Amino acid sequence: MDKYIIEGLNPLNGEIKVGGAKNAALPIIAASLLADSQVVLEDIPKLRDVTNLCSIIEDMGAKVKRDQNRIEIDSSTVSKTEADHDLARKLRASYYILGVMLARSGHARTTLPGGCNIGNRPIDLHLKGFRALGAEVNLDHGVVDVKADQLKGAEIYLDYPSVGATINIMIAASRAEGKTVIENAAREPEIVDLANFLTVMGANIKGVGTDIIKIEGVDEMHGVEHRIIPDRIEAGTYMIASAITGGDVFVRNVLTEHVKPLIAKMHEMGISVEEDIAGVRVKAGNKLKAVDVKTLPYPGFPTDMQSQMMALLTQADETSLIIETVRENRFMHVDELKRMGAEIKIDGHSALIKPGRLTGAEVRATDLRAGAALILAGLAAEGKTEVKDIYHVERGYENIEERLRGVGASINKVSE
Ligand code: EPZ
Repeated sequence: MDKYIIEGLNPLNGEIKVGGAKNAALPIIAASLLADSQVVLEDIPKLRDVTNLCSIIEDMGAKVKRDQNRIEIDSSTVSKTEADHDLARKLRASYYILGVMLARSGHARTTLPGGCNIGNRPIDLHLKGFRALGAEVNLDHGVVDVKADQLKGAEIYLDYPSVGATINIMIAASRAEGKTVIENAAREPEIVDLANFLTVMGANIKGVGTDIIKIEGVDEMHGVEHRIIPDRIEAGTYMIASAITGGDVFVRNVLTEHVKPLIAKMHEMGISVEEDIAGVRVKAGNKLKAVDVKTLPYPGFPTDMQSQMMALLTQADETSLIIETVRENRFMHVDELKRMGAEIKIDGHSALIKPGRLTGAEVRATDLRAGAALILAGLAAEGKTEVKDIYHVERGYENIEERLRGVGASINKVSE
């Protein structure tokens, strides 16, 4: 198993370029199976989740050519409507195969998804949407089977603005007969990127990015070229890397409107953030003011930045409060941060973070963003930090150790 070895206290200086968004690339790769001709995707990050999803669609018969961050997908030879169960268990986004194959062939089957163990991760809203569109849904022994002779448009209210359910229903509805309205839809930028991709393919989608999305089903969709939007969570992680080390880093390829919540909080902390068309420059002051953070669906503060923000707040001048409202169990990084000297108190969905010096320690990544938080803490800690179980981190960050070394961090990946 690989691990990262980090020597802390190097202020980071220079430029880091952000890649394409994992959480846009995954649904767009799946939705490529709706095209009746070749799809070319640019700025696809080289991540384990992407590799596993490509393996799933190849196993179903698609032809996939990958060249660095470019992927060509020809789905004309897709013959299976079931995702390989061993592969599907490796990533949560495998459940997008349900909406795609239901729309393409009227049948889809996959095992309940895997992914980070950050609390209970149901798919009840996905299945509620499929049933509303006229599909028969069967769930037994951990396998989901959905089928419909003809999907019909429907009005669907989401009890919670679920990103995954909004995506899966929007994909299925794009080929349903008639009009679908998704109410209380999620508004994340990755959903907008997917809708733009589907629209250029020929779909008829209005209102994406708001909480009401209207879809008029179409009969055919054709292959297109599409460039994935920048990854706002990767960008935020590197912005915090600059701030937590007292550095001065330009994070290139950032759509600043997608990281507004973090920029606002950084300004409140007294951190200089200069925005321009190409990215953001983050220059930390000599002291960080404490702030309170509450995670919410977009455009609120993203849950996927919560653990990284907690690492930063350990370096603030006073006690901060974080309230996690999106995920049930997303404080697993706290025990690991405490091993590095952090003083954090959990009470239900709230965490009180006291200021304190961090010292290097042996820690374990428990999920993707927790791993990122431990790397950030290691950059700010006195001495050596070893982050183990970094396969979690590699699911969501392309070459994070190279990118950080490029701005002066002392971080190396070694095999245990
Ligand atoms: C997406 O997960 C992201 N993953 C997550 O990022 C992110 O944390 C999450 O959105 C919220 O922003 C991908 O895009 C691949 P949800 P998803 O459905 O779609 C409840 C990362 O770090 N819910 O919006 O699974 C659920 O319990 C990953 O890149 C239902 O109740 O998120 C959860 O508490 C981690 N029923 C809440 O909604 C459902 O049917 C948010 O889940 C579905 C969800």
